[in-house]
Amino acid sequence: MQVQDSSVKTCCARIYESDAVRLLLGDSFHPGGMKLTERLGELLGLRPGVHLLDVASGKGASALHLAERFGCEVTGVDYGGENVAQANAEASARGLADRVRFVTGDAERLPCADAAFDAIICECAFCTFPDKPAAAGEFARVLKPGGRVGLSDLTRGEGELPPELDSLLAWVACIADAQPVERYAGFLQGAGIEVSVVEPQDWALTEMVNQIRMKLLGAEIMVGLKKIDLPDIDFASAKAMAAGALDAVRSGKLGYAIVAGKMRSIPQGIGINA
Ligand SMILES: C[S@@+](CC[C@H](N)C(=O)[O-])C[C@H]1O[C@@H](n2cnc3c(N)ncnc32)[C@H](O)[C@@H]1O
Repeated sequence: MQVQDSSVKTCCARIYESDAVRLLLGDSFHPGGMKLTERLGELLGLRPGVHLLDVASGKGASALHLAERFGCEVTGVDYGGENVAQANAEASARGLADRVRFVTGDAERLPCADAAFDAIICECAFCTFPDKPAAAGEFARVLKPGGRVGLSDLTRGEGELPPELDSLLAWVACIADAQPVERYAGFLQGAGIEVSVVEPQDWALTEMVNQIRMKLLGAEIMVGLKKIDLPDIDFASAKAMAAGALDAVRSGKLGYAIVAGKMRSIPQGIGINA
């Protein structure tokens, strides 16, 4: 599928700021919820004094959870200004504003200094970045030598995806441009990050798609009864996409995985154009 880089980023940010996504997913927008987020926190060795960057931080649910659970400092970057504003408001409400902050920015051009972070997390978002080598290069640029990276993302297995999973919406839902897990590892390795952990976590995707299907059914009934209004949702295509995604997970065409590693050496010279 051909996509325009700026339209996919803007569309992705808008969708993840919409009422429809809040209804279907709550405030945490990735499979596995806080269980997989904590697994990444353990792999990254988070503790007090560590400065973590959350790339594509959404409404900040993971960043805030990790700050509370591991005592680390966190900066979140997201393309969507509304998500960033809500995440900062939530950090203040939870008394975490002194060590958790969120800024607007693009993963492919991070608004961060070189070698500023000890660790990076990026959940269910790397696959939506149109220029993945540029994003991996940015991870390497802003990490300190020896710094760690942990991704969790949708993965592609063998076989073609059905047409309902090849649209702009499917791209934004992390499906259409999902990569085989080795490719994610390859993007990181190409930027100088040595990958040491690859963990399949397909259960998390099955669980999330099943929850979305149940919520879609409930929401459709409520809209039919005129109890709620959800003009953003095209129920027929959303249900077709969810059913297609579930079939794809069952047949091994789609999955979910964690990929983690460590900066190999001094990152100078590794950047967007490297
Ligand atoms: C599936 S959500 C994941 C959000 C968050 N990581 C979580 O797990 O709750 C994808 C997020 O990526 C953000 N995003 C998409 N493209 C981006 C880019 N190029 N740079 C920064 N954020 C981006 C969207 O705004 C959205 O919040």
